[in-house]
Amino acid sequence: MAHASALIATDIQAYLKAHEHKGLLRFITCGSVDDGKSTLIGRLLYESQLLFEDHLAALQADSRKWGTQGEQLDFALLVDGLAAEREQGITIDVAYRFFSTERRKFIVADTPGHEQYTRNMVTGASTADAAVLMVDARKGLLTQTRRHSTLMHLLGIRHVLVAINKMDLLDHSRAVYERIVEDYRAFAATLAAPGFESITFVPMSAFKGDNITEPSAAMPWYQGPTLMGWLETVPVDNTRLQRAPLRFPVQWVNRPNLDFRGYAGTLASGCVQVGQRVRVQPSGRETTVSRIVTHDGELAQAVAGDAVTLVLADEVDVSRGDLLADAQAPAEVADQFECTLVWMDDEPLLPGRPYWLKLGTQTVSATVTDIRHQINVNTQEHVAARRLELNAIAVCQLSLDRPVPFEPYAANRDLGGFILIDRTSHRTAAAGMLHFALRRAHNIHLQALEVDRQARAALKDQKPCVVWFTGLSGSGKSTLANALEKRLHAMGRHTCLLDGDNIRHGLNRDLGFTPEDRVENIRRIAEVARLMADAGLIVLTAFISPYRAERELARSRLPAGEFVEVFVDTPLEVAESRDPKGLYRKARRGELKNFTGVDAPYEAPEAPEFRVDTTHLEVEQAAERLVEFLRERGVLSG
Ligand code: ADX
Repeated sequence: MAHASALIATDIQAYLKAHEHKGLLRFITCGSVDDGKSTLIGRLLYESQLLFEDHLAALQADSRKWGTQGEQLDFALLVDGLAAEREQGITIDVAYRFFSTERRKFIVADTPGHEQYTRNMVTGASTADAAVLMVDARKGLLTQTRRHSTLMHLLGIRHVLVAINKMDLLDHSRAVYERIVEDYRAFAATLAAPGFESITFVPMSAFKGDNITEPSAAMPWYQGPTLMGWLETVPVDNTRLQRAPLRFPVQWVNRPNLDFRGYAGTLASGCVQVGQRVRVQPSGRETTVSRIVTHDGELAQAVAGDAVTLVLADEVDVSRGDLLADAQAPAEVADQFECTLVWMDDEPLLPGRPYWLKLGTQTVSATVTDIRHQINVNTQEHVAARRLELNAIAVCQLSLDRPVPFEPYAANRDLGGFILIDRTSHRTAAAGMLHFALRRAHNIHLQALEVDRQARAALKDQKPCVVWFTGLSGSGKSTLANALEKRLHAMGRHTCLLDGDNIRHGLNRDLGFTPEDRVENIRRIAEVARLMADAGLIVLTAFISPYRAERELARSRLPAGEFVEVFVDTPLEVAESRDPKGLYRKARRGELKNFTGVDAPYEAPEAPEFRVDTTHLEVEQAAERLVEFLRERGVLSG
């Protein structure tokens, strides 16, 4: 969320520093496309006439368009400029506009309104205190209005102004205004508690300037605040984070020479003083802060939002991603959570699939273990889901590969807000908010076993490993795995072969061939293979295992060198012409859905340990080569 706009965030820091004397409001504008956001933002900039701090002008790509200090703006030109930028949608992501009035300064996150830009709306909202939600008075509430409201609410925005726009096109009808107010109130009441702290409705015309800075003469029946009046007075709690306990995520280790070692980052909450006791998390070690260093010299203390380098009194082990916390009030550390996910990728979320999770400065591997329910944005009803498609919002359970210090999102956006990254495409697939650690995360401890895997393998006089065959249906995986097992067995090796017959009829008989079922199929097989390798066996698996991500998961469950990926590289035409079970024919006739190679994907390995081309090699020859290969790798020595 914040990561996507890291560059802009630095600029914002500079801006804030330069204007500490005036209160600041960060807000977001959202709503459906064509509801009039460009016009509204253009109007705000135009009416305020005070956005032109010298260094801010430099932030804008085209300073001519934005003018310089005190220059008279052309309203139409401004709106056109904003609209044109937004048309380019994908390239601008979120644009931050700066302006100020006598009473406050403002940063507004301007986000494109199309459905596919949920991503941008989330980025903008994750740092905002308040929101202006645009509603076209002629259209009333739309799904997008409700989706954005749901997201604003989830992302912790407390105060909302519903801008009922284009009133001039409806003769400034009070009845229309009142109907929309009623509709929105009814909708807002369905949001999970606590709902918004305040909702204000302003009938307006951004185009004509009605109720923007001056009360509109055309709508004398409206007695509430103008938009600008609301922006200038809506309560903001800029000190809440400063009052919370110290949380300092280490962004990088600063070690310019052997005499200096500091930890750089930004205080996510609380304050820090020289001499303060801190705990390094997750390791748990404690030490004292000896110096607080900044670009402008040393400080005695720093507060939430400050970027500093901390020097510690003792030589404790601290690395990037660790958290320095108040020793008296450390953060909770856990590896399983309940969270809300906002899915933002075209590829659906599949439970069990590993993703990279970025939380503050930490990156870990994570899987969704359970989708509790998806939220229908129109009704807020909970609905069951087995996967999450683009724009889905859902409550899920999450399992990380190691414990991390965190805060619930409601308490701290930096330490409770995270993103999931697709490991193959490297796209940001989801934004998420941690709610709480699952209790089971505290109660399950890995048992340190007396007889370990080495001991078990030693008794068998062999090295454990997993030989993972992957390839299309009919490629020859099972045949080859069988041939290899026979040879290993004859050599006195202890083996076990897992394939479709013994797994899909037993352990995995509840699973079919949808993407989410295949992910779960392979996840379970990977776990079983690992357990058997722990038992000291040479494990052979023969499954299509069509996705790279899950084969990587299987690899990551084993010590380096113990996973041998064998790509049975039989072209589709060849596998299809063999068609031993007649399934390709069925699939081509449309009688079998989701068939790999026909209407379901197969992601070929990029760098398998071993590749077999069954069109050029007899099975026995291939098995013989595999034995040689394993021998060379040391698996069969001893
Ligand atoms: S995997 O994709 O989840 O790894 P797995 O190897 O367990 O698949 O099972 C594949 C076998 O199931 C195929 O060899 C074929 O005999 C059978 N099968 C039945 N339906 C399908 C399907 N839709 N796609 C692929 N294989 C299928």
